[in-house]
Amino acid sequence: MRLDYYLANATAMSRKDAKQAISRGQVRIDGQPCRQAAHHVATGQHITLRGQPLSLPGERYLMLNKPAGVVSATTDRDHLTVLSLLPADQRSNLHVAGRLDIDTTGLVLLTTDGQWSHRVTSPKVECEKIYRVELAEPMTAEAEQAIETGLQLHNDARQTRPARVVAVAETVIELAITEGRYHQVKRMMAAVGNHVVALHRLQIGAIRLDPALAPGESRPLTGQEIQSVC
Ligand code: URA
Repeated sequence: MRLDYYLANATAMSRKDAKQAISRGQVRIDGQPCRQAAHHVATGQHITLRGQPLSLPGERYLMLNKPAGVVSATTDRDHLTVLSLLPADQRSNLHVAGRLDIDTTGLVLLTTDGQWSHRVTSPKVECEKIYRVELAEPMTAEAEQAIETGLQLHNDARQTRPARVVAVAETVIELAITEGRYHQVKRMMAAVGNHVVALHRLQIGAIRLDPALAPGESRPLTGQEIQSVC
C-alpha cells in the first residue's frame, strides 16, 4: 500500500494532508523519515506520524490465556484450537502472532493485522518473550551462564541469542528470549542437561498476560498494548 494511502487510512487525514505530512518529513518508516508519498509500505513495517505509532482501523487484536491441550493453529482435525475458544462472532480472519506448543500455557496474541503480527514474530525485530519455566532439575550457575551467553542447539547452525534468566525457585526460572525457534525453550534447557516440566508464556514485548484471564479466556488488547508491543 502507498504511504499516503496508508496514512489517510490510519488517521482522519485527507490524502492531500497526508501527502503534506509526508513531504514535511513527519512520517517515519521503521524509524527513518520517508518523504515519498508513493513509497510502498511493506508487511511488518512500523509507521509513525510525529512520533505516534499508526495502525490501520478495522483490525482486531486479542490476548488469550491458552490452556494445555489446545493447539495454536486456526484449524485442527484432532484438537481444540485457540480460535475455537473465542466467541463464534469474534473468530473471523484472526491469526496467531507467535505459536505455543500444545502443552505450553499462557499468553497468545491473535490479530487480523498481518503487519502487526509480522512485527511481533520477525527475527529482525527481536521482540522479547518471557516464559516461566518449571524444570526437572535445579538450574546450575554454569547452565545459567551458558543460556545468558548463547548456546548451541542440536541441529541449528547458529548459537541462540543471549537470553536473561531470573531464578524464581530452585527449579523454576523466568526466561526472556528474543527469538522464536522451534521448541526453543525446551531445546535450550535440554542443551544444558535439564528438562522442561511445565512452560507458561507470561509476556510478549510490552504485553503482559492479564492475570484476570482464567485459562481459555480472552480479551481485546488496549490501544496502548497494540501500539507498544515491540
Ligand atoms: N519454546 C518451546 O519450547 N515451546 C513453546 O511453546 C514456546 C517456546
